[in-house]
Amino acid sequence: MEFFTLENKNGLKLTFTNYGGIVSKIHVPDRDGAFADVALGFETVEEYQDHNDAYFGAIIGRYGNRIGKGRFELDGSEVSGLAINNGENHLHGGLKGFDKVVWQTEAVSGDGYTGMKLTYRSADGEEGYPGNLDASVIYKLTDANEWVIEYEATTDKATVFNPTQHAYFNLAGHDGPSPLDHEMQINAAFFTPTDHGGIPTGEIKSVEGTDMDFRQARVYGETIDSEDSLISRLGGYDHNWVLDKQYGELGLAAVAYDPKSGREMKVFTTEPGVQFYAGNFLDGSLTGKGGKVYQKRDGFCLETQHFPDSPNKGHFPATTLRPGQVFRSKTVYAFGVR
Ligand code: GLA
Repeated sequence: MEFFTLENKNGLKLTFTNYGGIVSKIHVPDRDGAFADVALGFETVEEYQDHNDAYFGAIIGRYGNRIGKGRFELDGSEVSGLAINNGENHLHGGLKGFDKVVWQTEAVSGDGYTGMKLTYRSADGEEGYPGNLDASVIYKLTDANEWVIEYEATTDKATVFNPTQHAYFNLAGHDGPSPLDHEMQINAAFFTPTDHGGIPTGEIKSVEGTDMDFRQARVYGETIDSEDSLISRLGGYDHNWVLDKQYGELGLAAVAYDPKSGREMKVFTTEPGVQFYAGNFLDGSLTGKGGKVYQKRDGFCLETQHFPDSPNKGHFPATTLRPGQVFRSKTVYAFGVR
C-alpha cells in the first residue's frame, strides 16, 4: 500500500492511498495564498488499518449510510445477512467495506487535470451483497482547483449500489480552530427525517421554519444543539438533505465557508442527496496528523449519495443496479476563497 499525491498548477495537492481510496491530505490556499491541509486524517496506512472507525477520507461502499436491519427485498427475494454494525442497522457497506479494501491504481490525465483511477472487484456475496460488482473511482485534481470524483460500476446480478466519499473537512486547517463557526449552505428545501437509529421514516419533510433550513448560508454551530428532536436524536447534524436540482445532472449540493481564512468549498453532484455529518461522534480518541487530537465536531462531511435505506423505501430514488446497466455518478469539491 502506498500514498499518491496529485498537484495542480496552482500548488493545490491531494494525497490519498490505495487502501480504501482514503484521501489523507488536501492542501488548499486561504485568501492570502497561505496553504493549509483541510482534511482530517492520519499519517500512515497502518493507522487507517488499525482504527479508522470514523471513516476519515474513505470511499464508502457498497452502500453509503444505512440499510435498516441489514435486510431488503430485491426482485421478490430477500437479501439478508448484511452486517449489523450500527445499532440494529447496517452502515457503510459492513465490516469490511470499500474503505478497507486495496484498490488497483492507474494514472490518468487530460486537459487541465491529473488523476488516478482506482478499481476494485467486489465478489458475489461479499459483505452479503449479491453480484460480482466491478467498481471504479477516478480522483481528478483540476487546474480550476476542483477535486473531481467519478464513480462507475457494473454487476453480473441485480444488486444495490450507493457509493460516497467520507472526507472530513475543516477549512481553517485540520489542526486549526473548530469548524463550528463555518457558514453552511445546503441547496435543499426538504430532508429525510429519521428514527433514533438514523433510518429514514420515509417522510420527505420541508426544512421551512426549522433548524434544518440551510437554504441561506449561516453558521451551523449555532443550531447544531437544536432542541428539534429530529436533530437532537442524532446528536447534531447527521442527516440526508433532498437536493433541489435535477437528479442525474451535476448541480449544487452545498457551500461551506470559513470566514477566518476565506476558504470556501462548493460541492456539486449528480446524486439526489447529501449527508451533512458534523463529526458528532469524534470524541478525542483519535490522534491524527502531527499529533492533532480530533475532538467532537472538529470536522464535517458532505457525503453525496442516494438517500439512506433506499432499498427499503420504494418511493426514494432507486439504488438498484442490474446486469447490462452502467452505474455513473460524479461529485466535485471546488475550492475557492472570498
Ligand atoms: C455517517 C453516518 C454517521 C456516522 C458517520 C461515521 O455520516 O451517518 O452516523 O456513522 O458516517 O462516524
